[in-house]
Amino acid sequence: MQTYRLALIGFGNVGQGLAQILLEREAELADRFGVHFQIVAISDLLKGSLYDPDGLSPATLLTEIQTHGNLDDAVAPHRGWGALRTITESNADVVVEISYTDLKTGEPALGHIRHALNAGKHVITTNKGPIALQYPQLAILAEANGVQIGVEGTVMSGTPALRLGLDLLAGAGISRIQGILNGTTNYILTQMEAEISYEEALADAQAMGYAEADPTGDVEGYDAAGKVVILANLLMDTPLTMADVDRRGITGLTLPDIHEARQAGERWKLIGSVEIKGGDVVASVRPLRLPATHPLANVSGATNAITYTTDLLGDVTLVGPGAGRVETGYALLGDMLAIHRYRGELT
Ligand code: HSE
Repeated sequence: MQTYRLALIGFGNVGQGLAQILLEREAELADRFGVHFQIVAISDLLKGSLYDPDGLSPATLLTEIQTHGNLDDAVAPHRGWGALRTITESNADVVVEISYTDLKTGEPALGHIRHALNAGKHVITTNKGPIALQYPQLAILAEANGVQIGVEGTVMSGTPALRLGLDLLAGAGISRIQGILNGTTNYILTQMEAEISYEEALADAQAMGYAEADPTGDVEGYDAAGKVVILANLLMDTPLTMADVDRRGITGLTLPDIHEARQAGERWKLIGSVEIKGGDVVASVRPLRLPATHPLANVSGATNAITYTTDLLGDVTLVGPGAGRVETGYALLGDMLAIHRYRGELT
């Protein structure tokens, strides 16, 4: 049995989703893959910080959060360590960076990730900010330190959008990637088709937890633009930045616009796109009126989807969740199993 010790930097919805998955699937992971993922440390500014080199119980962590909303009463030999100390001084070999996301500076997550890679620890993250802003630099740092950086959950949560492009379509010649990459805006557009106002639909998306803390990032297309930048960097080897994305959100669309499209058998969708055009890589996020025959036209609600246009296969489309507690937690499990696999230990 191979054990990987995890330090979770942040213990919000995604960290709790991961703890729940590890609790429920521990036996299956051991039986099928001979692997044990053990949480040894949590460092969260609001909920508290704990470290036990012999492992923390996911069941206890979840009960404490459900009962008290924090980890103040959980028992552990070390308490109150900050993120950087947890990364450096704990015995974790994988740092799970799931703190607050900031698409402008990437901090403090960027500093956490650099610190972990420099300490020779693997990093897995669902945090879009640092990956959209600095992925090429972080990938070089990981390689120089002989460790891996897993970022599957930054695009479409646990739906394996990046792995599909990176692994399964490697060599197929990807010339264009188009996607519905933001659940909040797709939910709003779908609700508007059912006569629900933009304001009411946005309030629903916030209540259901899809929207970012500041939903401007969703409705103005910044969240989708961050994901487009990640796709360009990982799959097209092109160091695009947020400023390179021609970005427009959905705030200019009205109910009459939506109806007019429906009457013509079309649908408005916020489409993130990156494609090779005349030797250049061109990226955009914008609302498009799609004909019913388009593979992304019938993806409704908060669901996400991505279409890879390839030389050898034509279009390949993947549809699945793009947010959610367990759904995003699963992205981290996929990255952990990938670390295990690349070490040649997964059969
Ligand atoms: N706010 C994002 C969305 C969450 O609505 O898709 C996932 O990145």
